[in-house]
Amino acid sequence: APAPAAFDRLVLTGFMGSGKTTIGALLAKHLGWTFLDLDHEIERRTGQTVPGLFAQHGESHFRRLESSALASVLGRRHVVIALGGGVPEELGNRLLLEQTPRTAVVYLEAPFEELLERCLRQPNATERPNLADTVLAAQRFARRQRHYEHLARFRVVTTGRTALETLDDVLAVA
Ligand code: S3P
Repeated sequence: APAPAAFDRLVLTGFMGSGKTTIGALLAKHLGWTFLDLDHEIERRTGQTVPGLFAQHGESHFRRLESSALASVLGRRHVVIALGGGVPEELGNRLLLEQTPRTAVVYLEAPFEELLERCLRQPNATERPNLADTVLAAQRFARRQRHYEHLARFRVVTTGRTALETLDDVLAVA
């Protein structure tokens, strides 16, 4: 019989552009688990886009929706969850992640400049509300870094790595 898996949930954290969605989908496929992207969950539940929610109701409203979506996805098993970049800023979210059993958080790391470049290369480059001002985005990155590190059971450096290489790196550590 195969060895029992150590975890029921793999959670990917990191800043915008760190590859949470891309790697998460590949990882889920590899494991035969369900992939859940928290931003998409929020969009599905509200019928609105993330930029739309920010524009209409503001960031604090979005954060409340995000926390409740997080609680709901953490109730599931055999899932790979891609968090939004801002999830670890909320104390309640950090506590919930820490207290959910059999849940491993993986931090996808890269320097700010590289993350920014990756985001700007994406087709929806202008859509991320918290990337519009790069000075503020750099401040958010600096503020969040210790939270990403603290939450993570595993850290994977993604600099200069392709998505498939990062997938291998995650599978090697987790
Ligand atoms: C945000 C990151 C986004 C999304 C929203 C806010 C942030 O998720 O939740 O635009 O504050 O870092 P991604 O990290 O998946 O882009």
